[in-house]
Amino acid sequence: MKKIQLNIHKPNLNNLKKAKKNLDDNNIIGIPTETVYGLAGNAYSDQSVKKIFKLKKRPIFNPLIIHFQNLKDLKNDVIINTNFNKLYSILCPGPITFILKKMKKSRISKIATAGKKTVAVRIPNHKVTRNLLSVLKFPLAAPSANISSKLSPTSAEDVLEEFGDKIKFILDGGQCKIGLESTIVDLTGKPSILRPGSITAQKIEKILKKKIKIKKNFKKIKDSAQLKIHYSPGIPVKMNKKNVEKNQALICFGKGFKVGKKYFNLSKKGNLKEAANNLYKTMRKIKKRNFKSIAVVKIPNTEIGCAINDRLKKASNK
Ligand code: TXA
Ligand code: MG
Repeated sequence: MKKIQLNIHKPNLNNLKKAKKNLDDNNIIGIPTETVYGLAGNAYSDQSVKKIFKLKKRPIFNPLIIHFQNLKDLKNDVIINTNFNKLYSILCPGPITFILKKMKKSRISKIATAGKKTVAVRIPNHKVTRNLLSVLKFPLAAPSANISSKLSPTSAEDVLEEFGDKIKFILDGGQCKIGLESTIVDLTGKPSILRPGSITAQKIEKILKKKIKIKKNFKKIKDSAQLKIHYSPGIPVKMNKKNVEKNQALICFGKGFKVGKKYFNLSKKGNLKEAANNLYKTMRKIKKRNFKSIAVVKIPNTEIGCAINDRLKKASNK
């Protein structure tokens, strides 16, 4: 165990250099972002990207998000448009991913984008990863650092728990500030939200000054049973419950719930941001305590609550 702990590295100058060396050598490393931790490799290298799919056991038809340092860099790979410029200037760097058209001359690995003509682009807002991106000569392909269909990691220790010593280097950026994956907005046509996140549809509508669609599921990509269940803690999850059954834990939200070994409150104050930040952490804890299933009380479907309910629905296979 001690040897494995050595894979987690404080983000000092020396370790940033080591992280760069690993990436230059086509190795895969764990990186912090403000949303969740990513499993990162050189997005221009087929060899690196293949390693990511293999480590994550990710179906090859499911493309990866590509992380850039700034606007100048992403202009080499994707075609930007007015909607993008508006959102970028207000929200970036930040917890939002844009689907844009891929340029013909783009060097992004076709494997990373699963052969699609579009790219998911993100400019993350975490100091450590921004420092890292600033010294690299390529963008980073980085899906969430979990085995496909499982919970995303929100700390360096979670990444270690997912992959053990299968990855040799994890940059420790502390606990993720948001704790849920970025909002994904498709800007290739009429804007639509593919995945809700902490940046809400209302916020995007306000910036773009138009209504946007919220897609219920990723139709084109979600064509396999393998993607039906996602964000899973590895035990059944049941939503909108009031009571707790045998060998079950109850995830609560707000005041008035019992206190005890079976009860896990996401936010006693009833704060949705706090609840989002505690969601994956809490589900991991419950799994480790050997409960056989998780019941969750009703969570308000407003603001980031929409993202919480989206993840819970997928975790409960709805
Ligand atoms: O917060 C986040 O977005 C984190 C951190 C690490 O940046 N990343 C993340 O990546 O959540 P991942 O791979 O776990 O989820 C990316 C989602 C997948 O559901 C994938 O299908 C979708 O983005 N995606 C990627 N490229 C796409 C494309 N060209 N069109 C539509 N969806 C795409
Ligand atoms: Mg993921």
